[in-house]
Amino acid sequence: MTDLTGRGLTDLWLRGCDFLGAPTAILGGAMSWISERKLVSAISNAGGFGVVACGSMSPELLDAEIKATKALTSKPFGVNLITMHPDLDRLIQVCGVNGVSHVVLAGGLPSAQSIKQIKDFGAKVICFAPALVIAKKLLRSGTDALIIEGAEAGGHIGPVSTSVLAQEILPEIAPQAPVFVAGGIGRGEAIISYLEMGAAGVQLGTRFVCASECVAHPNFKQAFLRAAARDAQPTVQIDPAFPVIPVRALVNKGTQRFTQFQGEVIARWRNGEIEQKAAQLEIEHFWAGALRRAVVDGDVENGSVMAGQSVGMVTKEQSTLEIIQELVAQAEAGLAARSPRKIA
Ligand SMILES: Cc1cc2nc3c(=O)[nH]c(=O)nc-3n(C[C@H](O)[C@H](O)[C@H](O)COP(=O)(O)O)c2cc1C
Repeated sequence: MTDLTGRGLTDLWLRGCDFLGAPTAILGGAMSWISERKLVSAISNAGGFGVVACGSMSPELLDAEIKATKALTSKPFGVNLITMHPDLDRLIQVCGVNGVSHVVLAGGLPSAQSIKQIKDFGAKVICFAPALVIAKKLLRSGTDALIIEGAEAGGHIGPVSTSVLAQEILPEIAPQAPVFVAGGIGRGEAIISYLEMGAAGVQLGTRFVCASECVAHPNFKQAFLRAAARDAQPTVQIDPAFPVIPVRALVNKGTQRFTQFQGEVIARWRNGEIEQKAAQLEIEHFWAGALRRAVVDGDVENGSVMAGQSVGMVTKEQSTLEIIQELVAQAEAGLAARSPRKIA
């Protein structure tokens, strides 16, 4: 099936497929504690592009995870590194030694040096661009491709929606470098609209959490299956003097307690019981280990159940292959619905 310009899905995401070395341009966005060997290899084996989440792993653990993933798939996959990690240089070296083909740098603006270090061992670098100026800067620093992730996404988010980022960034940047769109994508029809706007491909996280190959605790998956879009909300910041990096997660006791907790800490600061810096640290530490508690231990009441708004479209546990086939079928059907023959 083709769109109004006669392009089929294969043409629309050809650039992304070539860049990733995969038959579809669907990246399985790295999710800490979730995107490990099983899910990553399942996504790559199903025709997508899996990405290992390094999160706070040590270089030794990352080395083992990459090797274990390679044992489960011969297809390409990437590794997601958080730029704030204290051992970033060694993590990059581990990727180099293991011949990782694509490195995704997340969690803050990466240095030109980190980008160069990765390119020096021959891998492609993908970075997150939260705004047009940053997209341009990243390209000047040598980034090979970009991900633009809107506020609908699960996990740490920026303030701007996917649809607005796509309109601001794609027209200018897509002619220069492959851009993958993320945040709020739950169906194939949405994929084709971003491809038609110039995206090279897409990145989905939330949609893969209930894959049968995903190791997340059954309670975590159940919470996803029960949730509607409106249940996935960003964390609330109660005082601009104490900034909170917004994280989109399912509302639970933990998210409610976080709001109260901020109030208590700020009251202690106002009473002179605590310095501002210490208060800020207490607020930042509230969520330490909270994603692990939800994903690994299954404490979905007090842990952080990070989820995007597309969680409402996650309605059953199914294999990764079924999820990717469903997305592709919806994209094909979307193209068929707008094909010139239908209009005539
Ligand atoms: C539970 C969870 C954990 C995540 N952890 C990470 C992470 O460690 N690194 C990262 O770059 N993005 C992380 N993300 C973002 C995803 O990689 C992906 O970009 C996002 O889920 C896409 O939006 P969607 O959830 O609307 O599909 C996480 C998302 C979720 C839902």
